[in-house]
Amino acid sequence: MQRVFSGIQPSGIPTLGNYLGAIRNWVPMMRDHECIYCVVDLHAITQPFDPKALASQTREMAAALMACGVTPDRCVLFVQSHVHAHARLAWIFNCVARLGWLNRMTQFKDKAGKDRENAGAGLYVYPNLMAADILAYHATRVPVGEDQKQHLELANDIAQKFNHDFGETFFPPIEPIIQGVAARVMSLRDGTRKMSKSDPSDQSRINLTDDADTIALKIRRAKTDAEPLPAELAALEGRPEARNLVGILAAITGQEPQQVLRAHEGQGFGTFKGVLTDALVAHLGPIQAEMQRLLDDPAAVDAGLRRGAEKAAAIAEPIVARAEALVGFLPRG
Ligand code: TYM
Repeated sequence: MQRVFSGIQPSGIPTLGNYLGAIRNWVPMMRDHECIYCVVDLHAITQPFDPKALASQTREMAAALMACGVTPDRCVLFVQSHVHAHARLAWIFNCVARLGWLNRMTQFKDKAGKDRENAGAGLYVYPNLMAADILAYHATRVPVGEDQKQHLELANDIAQKFNHDFGETFFPPIEPIIQGVAARVMSLRDGTRKMSKSDPSDQSRINLTDDADTIALKIRRAKTDAEPLPAELAALEGRPEARNLVGILAAITGQEPQQVLRAHEGQGFGTFKGVLTDALVAHLGPIQAEMQRLLDDPAAVDAGLRRGAEKAAAIAEPIVARAEALVGFLPRG
């Protein structure tokens, strides 16, 4: 059975982008893979964050994942900082990765913004930690949204260089799994930017916890154009906001965008937005209720995460110990 790893930052409430682009694809993989899913709090501190809120955000993210079907009885679900193997392997990878490779990372450029001199060093080496997350488990398949593709290519470069320098075939190649019509859900305010937890405008995203009225308002206010919906997907070229809303309805109702267009051809956005709102509210309602139920008993969530960390450490510990031995560290006597 192939081993799957993926992670999500507890840097806010998961968005519809996280859900459609990643989390929803994590669930079916649990049927025929050994799945390891992680709330990556070490990654979350690479950008400004509130230390008083981080622990509860981490628990909320875990509860959100569980409510989406990523349940601890069917996979290994844990918090990154609870398993020290990640940070140990990441340090080795900091020494394996080349500066030239990191300099090419577009996400660093986006997140660091104009004031690059003032960005944290952790943000710069972020992809090395991501490579360590995956390779500490010898995982081979990684379900993510489109935006993580470059990081996974870098992880493969790191694995290859480690193998070349220290041990021919120690780390396996990683295959990114980027699925479906919603691999890149865009902002509701600007169809050329991705929907993000960290966008300053809450109107730009649907949060998994938004109630029906909030969803209705955000969809009503979502940027669109004045044209009716065409019959063919190709005709949405140059209309990124319209393309995004069609893609969201397709993903949430399990259709292809072309089927959505056939059903709504000629409709204006007034009507279409009503249909989209109803579909979102119907889909997210049960997830929200389950998340609330889980958060009513935080100790149970924490206990599930503790068991997950124990299982994760049991897998990662021998792999990272072997990597340390290959590098030549003196074993602790
Ligand atoms: P994060 O927390 O930004 O996002 C979690 C997952 O959601 C996907 N995603 C999206 N998909 C479609 N449309 C969007 N608008 C959208 N926004 C986010 C992301 O691609 C991701 O799959 N670096 C990772 C976390 C991570 C990780 C890992 C992932 C750490 N270690 C190891 C895989 C393997 C991140 O910041 O995801």
